[in-house]
Amino acid sequence: MDDDRRSDEKVSDVTRISPLSEADRDELLAFETDNRAYFARSVPDRGDAYFTAFDERLEHLLVLQEAGTDLFFVVRDEAGAVVGRVNLMDIENGSAELGYRIAETAAGRGHARAALRLILTEAARAGVQVVRAKTTADNVASQRVLECCGFHRVSGEPAQVEGHGGRLQEAVHYERRLAGQ
Ligand SMILES: CC(C)(COP(=O)(O)OP(=O)(O)OC[C@H]1O[C@@H](n2cnc3c(N)ncnc32)[C@H](O)[C@@H]1OP(=O)(O)O)[C@@H](O)C(=O)NCCC(=O)NCCS
Repeated sequence: MDDDRRSDEKVSDVTRISPLSEADRDELLAFETDNRAYFARSVPDRGDAYFTAFDERLEHLLVLQEAGTDLFFVVRDEAGAVVGRVNLMDIENGSAELGYRIAETAAGRGHARAALRLILTEAARAGVQVVRAKTTADNVASQRVLECCGFHRVSGEPAQVEGHGGRLQEAVHYERRLAGQ
């Protein structure tokens, strides 16, 4: 194991994920700031308040993580740079909701796919049996990532979700059932 690698990291060929920690704060803020406009082309913008209250928000996420209702991971490339985030939220009764985002400069290198596969292993380990995800009908990249990782489309509510520009768009729902570990 490399000296700079954390003991709780999960590693694939070029992608590592590690549980969100306070030490990630500066890199995470830079990641969100640098990619704000890029992400806003696919998903709702986080809004100015997210950035001004970044520390409070991070603290809140760490409390949720500690409670075990959510698992937040930072995605790093082979050089250790933060290239994304992948999260499992609202873990309850064996089900959880998936979220992910990868930096513009790291797009198309398989990080999302690898990070999803890694988090699915963690989900199974945490006793999650069904992972749910939703995206908008126009977010082809997101749908492709989910399909690459064994998710299949299901009917679901709501029929519309907020997409880029804060506009309501047709929602596409997915789920993936996990074998217990
Ligand atoms: C969606 C997102 C996570 C993809 O990340 P990524 O690391 O570039 O994706 P990967 O390199 O792992 O690609 C996985 C698959 O999706 C495909 N894909 C990636 N971007 C794509 C695009 N813009 N259009 C079509 N397919 C795309 C890849 O070709 C690959 O499929 P393949 O193996 O058949 O070639 C990234 O674009 C992103 O963060 N977007 C903004 C935030 C967002 O939409 N998050 C999801 C919210 S539901």
